[in-house]
Amino acid sequence: MRLDRLWLTDFRSYESAELAFAPGLTAVVGDNGRGKSNLLEAVAWLATLTSFRGAPTDALVRAGAARAVLRLEGFAERTAPGEEHDERQTLVEAELVASGRNRVLVNRQRLQRTRDLLGVLRVTVFTPDDLDIVKGGPGGRRRYLDDLLVALHPKYDAVQREVDRVLKQRNALLKQVQGGRRLDEAAVTTLDVFDEKLGQAGEELARVRVALCERLAPVLAASYAAVAVGADVRAATTLRYESDWYGADGGLSGALAAGRDDDVRRGVSLVGPHRDDLALAIGGLPARTHASQGEQRSFALALRLAGHSVVTATTGAAPVLLLDDVFSELDPDRSDALLANLPAGQTLLTTASGLPKGAAPERVLRVEARPAPGGGVVSTLSETEGPP
Ligand SMILES: Nc1ncnc2c1ncn2[C@@H]1O[C@H](COP(=O)(O)OP(=O)(O)OP(=O)(O)O)[C@@H](O)[C@H]1O
Ligand SMILES: [Mg+2]
Repeated sequence: MRLDRLWLTDFRSYESAELAFAPGLTAVVGDNGRGKSNLLEAVAWLATLTSFRGAPTDALVRAGAARAVLRLEGFAERTAPGEEHDERQTLVEAELVASGRNRVLVNRQRLQRTRDLLGVLRVTVFTPDDLDIVKGGPGGRRRYLDDLLVALHPKYDAVQREVDRVLKQRNALLKQVQGGRRLDEAAVTTLDVFDEKLGQAGEELARVRVALCERLAPVLAASYAAVAVGADVRAATTLRYESDWYGADGGLSGALAAGRDDDVRRGVSLVGPHRDDLALAIGGLPARTHASQGEQRSFALALRLAGHSVVTATTGAAPVLLLDDVFSELDPDRSDALLANLPAGQTLLTTASGLPKGAAPERVLRVEARPAPGGGVVSTLSETEGPP
């Protein structure tokens, strides 16, 4: 979907705001705490029905207001293979209620299921927190893969939920029988059933994760090269799915059987897709422990851009690229390279430190804010001419 206009009422720091998107690059500038990320969060919320900052609904509704209203007008592309390019005007509206049920309408029709929205508006989000994909624990890397799978096809959501569901049940039972004293025949039978279900669902999840990694690997090299310029970074970036059991003899079922005694002793499932990792390296060295802060951030950005490109290739349309605070910790050369190599399509980026010299956004929006009587701030948007 190509974004045209966004209206916000009582969303975060916005009392009432309207903004028009450029067909290509729109830059949002302003000092810290003015409401730049809030804008990106609004667009991303409409695509995913969640906050990319993990905020609950009541944090998204302006302090003192009962509900927030988001309204987005754009053009949905219909580019089925072999068909002529076709665009249809699309309206996505949402009402976020601080204490109650949210309501979402697409072309004035009430949305029945979240997954119905997934094909309407797709976004690729990069935020400063994405540094954790590279720097943090394996959980963030698994989430990166799993979120991308859902962006590629909503059916993967069901696979992930099945794994989570069985794991929860299995862990609850393991906790009950922890140590083995209460491991009676009935518990063993139930564990056998869980193992079979986890064996199947876990195997399927790992299979699609591995397939995704295979698609990402060649694209990642190009994405990293697009950001990390300079002679020092010829070193290749690599990505490899890491699993103790996947592809091994017996697969997950075998591993679960072999590890059952350990699981019972510890009262938790120690093997499965929930323990797998994604090994990331630059020039053969593990990025988590060896790369510099700027390299880690470039790597995280490259992972998002690689995902963006895989989703574009699969769905036939580029998601809207939302880059929050993307220039922080990138040196001037990398910032310029990123701008020069932005993927085709629409990009909305924020910056508190100004735009790089070579930047030529089609639209520049300045965000300012004044203190709100009830706490927080009230943000205002204005279009600036030329370089800010
Ligand atoms: N529900 C809310 N009601 C009122 N104000 C809010 C609400 N949620 C957040 N704010 C205000 O919004 C401001 C933060 O906005 P935002 O995160 O968009 O800033 P930013 O411009 O991205 O800043 P930075 O450059 O530091 O990232 C804060 O001052 C905060 O008080
Ligand atoms: Mg911000």
